[in-house]
Amino acid sequence: MPHRHTSPPELYRHLLEHQTTVVLWFDGLLNLQFINPAGEMMFAVSARRLRGMHARELFAGAEHILHGLERALASGHGFTEREVQITFQGGKVSTLDTIVTPVNEPQLGSGLLVELMQLDRQLRITREENIIAQQSVSRALTRGLAHEIKNPLGGLRGAAQLLERELGDPALKEYTDVIIGEADRLQNLVDRMLGPNTIPKKDVISIHQILERVRQLVSVEVPTQVKLVRDYDPSIPDLTADPDQLIQAVLNIVRNAAQAVGERGEIVLRTRTLRQYTLGQQRHKLVIKVDVIDNGPGITPDMMESMFYPMVTGRPDGTGLGLSIAQAIINQHGGLIECASEPGNTRFTLLLPLQH
Ligand SMILES: Nc1ncnc2c1ncn2[C@@H]1O[C@H](COP(=O)(O)OP(=O)(O)OP(=O)(O)O)[C@@H](O)[C@H]1O
Ligand SMILES: [Mg+2]
Repeated sequence: MPHRHTSPPELYRHLLEHQTTVVLWFDGLLNLQFINPAGEMMFAVSARRLRGMHARELFAGAEHILHGLERALASGHGFTEREVQITFQGGKVSTLDTIVTPVNEPQLGSGLLVELMQLDRQLRITREENIIAQQSVSRALTRGLAHEIKNPLGGLRGAAQLLERELGDPALKEYTDVIIGEADRLQNLVDRMLGPNTIPKKDVISIHQILERVRQLVSVEVPTQVKLVRDYDPSIPDLTADPDQLIQAVLNIVRNAAQAVGERGEIVLRTRTLRQYTLGQQRHKLVIKVDVIDNGPGITPDMMESMFYPMVTGRPDGTGLGLSIAQAIINQHGGLIECASEPGNTRFTLLLPLQH
């Protein structure tokens, strides 16, 4: 049983830590006595600084909640309010479902239990899940198709080689060369459509090793007027991942950025961490955030909708596989890729949980 001035037992503490609903406990004077980690995240202030704070200060951006709390305290009747908008310090607006329950029991004293459910966060999670599900269906289709093409293609190439050997007239060899050359080109495409098909070989690595490798590879491909800028957070701990696959994923994105900026421009590789961040259904203590930012022309809303699907390209010589492969790799590592773009500022964000 929790006591008034003692911390909850281990089990309760762990449960509260992983809870995504914000839980607040106000005493009879509407001073905050308890807030869970989800609450700290939402208000973006530490529990230590929040404790003792009056509801008036906490809900400065939502007068009607404050009045509701005062009424509930006076009347002893709880209330539920849906889709309340709160403006936080710093201007962030959030939509919340609110449940207020007056409690009066010897262990706790009398006060108000307030639960806040962040709807926009819920919406974000379902949207991400949908996207991941859709993309994995189209990826499965592409892989199936590639697989069907692969075998007959091998036969075709073999037959052309045999034919070439039997041909007496060297002038005819030109034709078999075309068949063999085109078969090789298709083979390459099909291999890319199949994507990474080896089981991930996981290793403990630094994200910066990966980024440095990509930077090295791309720096020899781009014109000298294209600057590759690093902005790393050196405190990021190592993660467990398949280094070759991660290099492939980041490379696909940085190459796109390089193609977008063309002859001159800037590509920034930035690393940061996010604490207590939810990816899909899973809440993670620490998530690595890698931004690849370019100052190219940007991505049209149309392309934005579809670019993560296989075979979607905006370039005449593109195969449209780069992003779908990158997304598949990052998904396999428990993470996801997001994108935001306006002319002159395009940002691809890779979110990778430290432990998967
Ligand atoms: N940083 C960016 N700026 C502008 N457009 C981009 C950017 N990244 C991707 N795109 C658009 O998204 C499309 C899809 O990218 P994706 O990497 O999947 O395929 P691709 O680059 O066309 O071909 P591939 O990578 O297979 O050679 C690109 O053709 C381009 O139109
Ligand atoms: Mg590409």
